[in-house]
Amino acid sequence: MNEFLKAMQFRHACKLFDEKRKISKKDFGVILEAGRLSPSSFGLEPWYFLVIESDKVKKALKGAILNQPQVATCSHLVILLSRKAKFFKKKSGYLDKMFGRSAKDIKDIEVQKSEFEGFLHNNLEADTTNWAKMQVYIAGANMMSAAAFLSIDSCPIEGFDAKELKKSLAKNVPEFDKKSYKIALIIAFGYRVNEPEEKIRCSIEEIAAFVK
Ligand SMILES: Cc1cc2nc3c(=O)[nH]c(=O)nc-3n(C[C@H](O)[C@H](O)[C@H](O)COP(=O)(O)O)c2cc1C
Repeated sequence: MNEFLKAMQFRHACKLFDEKRKISKKDFGVILEAGRLSPSSFGLEPWYFLVIESDKVKKALKGAILNQPQVATCSHLVILLSRKAKFFKKKSGYLDKMFGRSAKDIKDIEVQKSEFEGFLHNNLEADTTNWAKMQVYIAGANMMSAAAFLSIDSCPIEGFDAKELKKSLAKNVPEFDKKSYKIALIIAFGYRVNEPEEKIRCSIEEIAAFVK
């Protein structure tokens, strides 16, 4: 089988991790790099990754993540944050910084900002918060695929109490910048205890059409 599809088959939403097995620094570096290299709309990289290695902090956060067993048993718990909508306003300075990385001159930055504004206006009806989250999910998917390629398990987690988790992060994780970011998604990484059930998926015919 194709090596990439083998990794896709290997990946499953792992419900319980082997607490004794930790992901090496080198392997976790690959996972994080896959997130960093991910594509984002207009190249704005609206993400931040809080990588929780501390077992004490994982336990402290567990309650707000509905006591899901992945949280305290995983090796690395990643809280994927998305930039708040205010950063995508013309005057925020963030667009100047990000577009300035590839722009030829100041005029070019203004052109890119106008194009971006037009895009938001036409496509998103100002729901920039969810638009930013969508980019973060792409990074998360790539991180899980990279992990699977290294035979490392993962579980994406949306089952959390956002208000409680925000409070708990503010208390237990000083690196959490709540003024700039919202919580988008959580992903637990580690090594499985149990083998997964067989995959349940719709057939290709049910989910895709070839238009010739
Ligand atoms: C965005 C997202 C959120 C999810 N949240 C949870 C969760 O909170 N807890 C959990 O056990 N699984 C969660 N899952 C896992 C799905 O239930 C799982 O991916 C799906 O049933 C398909 O199974 P598989 O990934 O093992 O192939 C989530 C998946 C995604 C993509």
